[in-house]
Amino acid sequence: MSIDVEAVRRQTRGVLSVTHLNNAGSSLVPSPVMDTVVGHLRREEEIGGYEAAEEAADRLENVYSSVARLIGAEPNEIALAENGSRAWAMAVYSFPFVPRTRLLIGRTEYAGNVIALRQLACRNDLEIVVLDDDPHGQVDVEHLQRELERGNVAMVALTHVPMANGLVNPAADVGRRCRAAGVMFVLDACQSVGQMPLDVQSLGCDVLAGTGRKFLRGPRGTAFLYVRASVLERLEPAMLDGHSAAPTGAAGFEVRGDARRFESWETSAAGRLGLGRAAEYALALGLDAVQERVVGLAEQLRSELAAVPAVTVHDRGITRCGIVTFSVRGSEARNIRTRLAGHRINVSVAPLTSSAVDSVLTGTRQGPEMVVRASVHYYNTETEIQRLVGVLRSGDK
Ligand SMILES: Cc1ncc(COP(=O)(O)O)c(C=O)c1O
Repeated sequence: MSIDVEAVRRQTRGVLSVTHLNNAGSSLVPSPVMDTVVGHLRREEEIGGYEAAEEAADRLENVYSSVARLIGAEPNEIALAENGSRAWAMAVYSFPFVPRTRLLIGRTEYAGNVIALRQLACRNDLEIVVLDDDPHGQVDVEHLQRELERGNVAMVALTHVPMANGLVNPAADVGRRCRAAGVMFVLDACQSVGQMPLDVQSLGCDVLAGTGRKFLRGPRGTAFLYVRASVLERLEPAMLDGHSAAPTGAAGFEVRGDARRFESWETSAAGRLGLGRAAEYALALGLDAVQERVVGLAEQLRSELAAVPAVTVHDRGITRCGIVTFSVRGSEARNIRTRLAGHRINVSVAPLTSSAVDSVLTGTRQGPEMVVRASVHYYNTETEIQRLVGVLRSGDK
């Protein structure tokens, strides 16, 4: 089934005010999701926060199954978190690193993750090995294979869809190779979840982190973590509280057996309900249909941009997604964003992905090269894309 664009736009109040092409930043939240969030906040106002949570206990529990269904996992393999970085870190910081082992990462790894890995590398005397890109700009799986065969690898960390590059890394191929080598595979799916089907079995990842507000169209401040049941026991959380563990005997403690060991107790119940509603919303539309429409719109945008003489499109990769990055000769990315904002068109500015990772790894003072990032979702229209390109053309002397 394809997406009924009129119907999804009727459920997206924001389309009346803006042309929103910043879905990789934070999508326009659909009205059923926002109504869920606001509805719960109202109940907190009316009857009290703990009482509202008790009233919504079944629905709060169902959030785990909704998120699990979205990625082909089991509910006990899901933890909820306040952002994707923290979800990812809760698992990664819990890994029992052995000194002088190696971390393999892609060149398009999310820069925030690279900083965290640097800290872990310093603490545990680990070596970070950056895998080459292949000629298409994706992670080079042959290089990965050689490094896995050299051995002494603690973990492979990959960002599925980089923050600012329209490519989709070949995660399932990476997962297959990691499993064959018996190496932990951590996948950052913050930019892929909600814009394409994800299945942790075929991806072969042990850990997956996703955020709510981007392509999943959930509320801000929501995220989730998947940890494969078979590796849960190996990951003792770096931090515990009364929700994630219980005291035993005079001095001991017992960590809970499911992925909620990575959560903390206090949280936004409204946000969680919104995240669950967003997962259900995406599942009801069908992730195959979502991906088809997103890829189609992004390809339209790339080809229309490529026809503007001053514009360079930077996206690479064999499989592409809804993120489109470009620069305009003679104009800074930030100025383009401001100009588009004047026409009520939302885009964002981002560091060209590979240069962002390089600057974190090498500690260069020179900032990374900035590009404009326009990111489409299924509720965008062909006319909205033409509107963006029209503004760029109008400044194209
Ligand atoms: C690829 C990628 N990973 C992780 C994150 C972090 O997600 P969050 O902002 O929810 O911590 C982002 C955010 O932009 C991202 O683009």
